[in-house]
Amino acid sequence: MAEDIEDVSFLPGDSLNRKSLYEPSIPQRCRQLVCSQRKATIFVVVMGVFILVIALIAAFARSGSRTCADQSAESKPSKSTPVEDYIATNGEKFPWRDVRLPTSVSPLEYDIHLHPNLTERKFSGKVTIKCKVVKSTDFIVLHSKDLTISKILLTVESVEKKITKKLEYIKNEQMYLKLESSIPVGKNILITLDFEAKLVKKLSGFYLSSYEDSKKVTRYLAVTQFEATAAREAFPCFDEPAMKAKFSMSIVRDKDYISLFNMPRVSSKPYKENLVLDQFQQSVQMSTYLVAFIVCDFASITNKTKAGTDVTVYAPRDQIDEAHFALHVAVTVLECYNKLFDIPYPLPKQDLVAIPDFSSGAMENWGLITYRMTAVLYDPKHSSTRDKEWVAIVVAHELAHQWFGNLVTMEWWDDLWLNEGFATFVEYLGTESLKESWAMENQFFELTLIPALKRDSLKSSHPIATPVHNPDQINDLFDSISYFKGASVIRMLRSFLGNADFNSGISNYLKKYKYSNAVTNDLWQALSEASKQKIDVTSVMNTWTKQMGYPVVTVTRQESKVSLTQSRYLSFHNSTIKEEFQSPFSYKWHVPFIYGVMDHNGKFTQNKIWLHMTSASVDLDSNIKLIKGNYGNSGYYRVNYDTGTWQTLIQQLNNNHKVFSQGDRAGLISDAFEFARSGLLNVTIPLQMTKYLENEEDYLPWSSAISGLTYIKQRIQDRDEVTLLKKYVLKLMENQLKRLGWKSEGEYLTRRLRTLLIYVALEYGKQDVVKKATDRFKQWMKNTDQIDPELQDVIFDAGVMYGSEADWTFVKNQYLTVLVPSKKKQLMKALAKSKDDSILARYLNYALDSKIIKHQDIATVINYVGGNTDGRLLAWRFVQRNWQKLRKWFGDVPFTLSSIIEGSTSEFSTQFDLEEVQKFFQEHDAGPGTRSVQMALENIQMNTQWLEQNGETVITWLQTNTT
Ligand code: BES
Ligand code: ZN
Repeated sequence: MAEDIEDVSFLPGDSLNRKSLYEPSIPQRCRQLVCSQRKATIFVVVMGVFILVIALIAAFARSGSRTCADQSAESKPSKSTPVEDYIATNGEKFPWRDVRLPTSVSPLEYDIHLHPNLTERKFSGKVTIKCKVVKSTDFIVLHSKDLTISKILLTVESVEKKITKKLEYIKNEQMYLKLESSIPVGKNILITLDFEAKLVKKLSGFYLSSYEDSKKVTRYLAVTQFEATAAREAFPCFDEPAMKAKFSMSIVRDKDYISLFNMPRVSSKPYKENLVLDQFQQSVQMSTYLVAFIVCDFASITNKTKAGTDVTVYAPRDQIDEAHFALHVAVTVLECYNKLFDIPYPLPKQDLVAIPDFSSGAMENWGLITYRMTAVLYDPKHSSTRDKEWVAIVVAHELAHQWFGNLVTMEWWDDLWLNEGFATFVEYLGTESLKESWAMENQFFELTLIPALKRDSLKSSHPIATPVHNPDQINDLFDSISYFKGASVIRMLRSFLGNADFNSGISNYLKKYKYSNAVTNDLWQALSEASKQKIDVTSVMNTWTKQMGYPVVTVTRQESKVSLTQSRYLSFHNSTIKEEFQSPFSYKWHVPFIYGVMDHNGKFTQNKIWLHMTSASVDLDSNIKLIKGNYGNSGYYRVNYDTGTWQTLIQQLNNNHKVFSQGDRAGLISDAFEFARSGLLNVTIPLQMTKYLENEEDYLPWSSAISGLTYIKQRIQDRDEVTLLKKYVLKLMENQLKRLGWKSEGEYLTRRLRTLLIYVALEYGKQDVVKKATDRFKQWMKNTDQIDPELQDVIFDAGVMYGSEADWTFVKNQYLTVLVPSKKKQLMKALAKSKDDSILARYLNYALDSKIIKHQDIATVINYVGGNTDGRLLAWRFVQRNWQKLRKWFGDVPFTLSSIIEGSTSEFSTQFDLEEVQKFFQEHDAGPGTRSVQMALENIQMNTQWLEQNGETVITWLQTNTT
């Protein structure tokens, strides 16, 4: 059961909520203050209030929070910014009033000794931190969270300095040490702290994870996950990315276990009965969030790169056979990056470890990368090419961080995108180096560019560079903007700088800031210097990183004259969401506009023109038949055309769509559907455009169209006419379904197209496809070893969608017994496809039982049930009912709460739903999911209005086009 998790960590959300039962929220407070001012007779009270207001404003200004006046302007009471009282645990005032640490002392070296006890579920340790005094000081502030500190010793050049006061302030996770006197600048000091803490099942800090071996024995391991702010849960430290130091480590372990650290082990010595003390080599200069250590009983496989780096994959003994592909990827990709960045990977080893309980996909700890099982294990007999590709992408992403993030780290978390955007961009280059013919360039469009454009077209978006202060805000920044917009604008930048200048610019940047920290501007500087065309990268890129959103470039053609104008693109103008950010550039961009012009022979030529914060025009030769903007999809913008040009484009798709690349076809479809959503285009234009799909044999355009058509289907889901839409789509797919058949053959994207179309056909109830898939499901039930791994995904889905309760139970039992992680995940997904709400409700309840659904998978279950039309309301009710638990389990990690909020609400499309979601989150703190709530509300508003504005047009179009 859920009780299995004994999370002792400090839960900011919980305590705030409890507090809010008794205390008015900040806006209420401000209003009360104004009222009491009217009672001028009580002068003393007014003065008191005045002083209090000033004090509050000062406190908020210091900690980077907003002021009381700002707060009252908001429509929603803010639960995440309570009045700061700075009261330490002993009731005294806590003197340091900033979430950021003072810079008077700078850590140089950590010497950590740890003794984790997996049986008694606790760990004890001692850390000695050598620091340099850079500004004379008589106090020290460092981070510590949920640690019991028993002893502290401070020495200045071997002479003890008395600590006269030790205070802890839980909210900022800080410890304040007051010294008997000041230490002068330039001195080195040693701070030694003895500590202990519980080792519990959670997903961040130093935590306990477990798995069942083939003999059904539960085995335990202890593992770390520190990013962003959890190193302080494992040992007291200066837990900020710019406070880099060298780390030495020794770990006590059971003689039958192994221990791992960022660096190789140098010695193992007996240590009491049955215990061994492992000592590790000192690390390079690095940030605390990248430190990692593990105690486990895993098996391993090893190889070496050409440059001599030892690469090892660790996994539970029964699953180590599934680690070969990840090992191959890691070696190949490390060699690729050594060349690409022109800096050899600096550590002697790189370990990859499969962790049975893991909050995200993977974590780039330097030399000791940790992975969720599905992100590192692959079994060709049981997993699909898509599962294989996922392993490659994740491994390539984390290895990219070894340079972008680990070697050069962002100065502070508000430049997080330097880490995540870059790694997301580079992961494509790394994966490409495997030469697997996965068409990574094409996949960028679907996996990265489009999700970024979707998220960034809402008023609830934020600039890439966004100020953050506390852990909730930091975790909230791990989102589509940092990852996908970040990667997309870097890719656009590379396209206008050229590969050679781009590569030399990033290599120079890495060399200049290695073992140190950088800000976004440092990267722009290095790239400007590398630009032979003398492009001022800083000016251009500031318009993409310092303002949110992106432009729509409108192409208007009159004979041979083409005008290009830019304006901010919004999916939904009427959104009532209050924008958090103002643009410093009045929503104008430096747009490198790439366009293709096609002559009458169907031959395309590529051209480029800059729209420097304004519009531009081009003259076309008389033999130019058509123009296509964002040619090759390297730009981070959308392109609209005059109606005549749209019609010419549609005609061309009908006559010979192959004059465009599949990416350009997908781009046209995506833009057309998107503009129909925002009202820039009549919805009949994208619908008209889909007609050519009968002859479309490529994946990307289909996937773009299915996504646009699915949006329409969801909106008219509750109307009879949804059958018309299904009929239309099924007819469109008919040719291709026949052509593709059921044999898993062809290139990767052809295989993806096959499963996509089969899945849609299943969902829309196409009889022959349903029969074929359910027959295969029955065969699988007879012999579960016999199933095509490429198609098992849709076969399991079909079995549950069209099956009985007994079929569902069969899938559930398989889910519980199957060992291959990717297959387990597919079964978990299939279980959410039932059309029976009592089964779905039961499934959701299983999500609370960690023996059935691990906590790491709760979001997946909720989101799959929420994505099922029959489960939508159940999922949302489940989220509301269990919010406190979810907040407690996932309040300290990124991604999970955001994805739950998005997954359980984004399909809503009525005013009633909107008010319900709004009310719920007015009363409940969303923590690191705060911005997702805004996005969810905006999406619901948009869905609601879409139906009002387009419903009838779509239905009339379907009526005339399905006969
Ligand atoms: N650094 C992140 C993971 C992370 C961030 C873990 C913050 C915990 C807190 C890692 O590099 C990452 O981005 N992982 C991705 C996978 C990747 C392929 C996009 C993930 O976990 O989804
Ligand atoms: Zn990452």
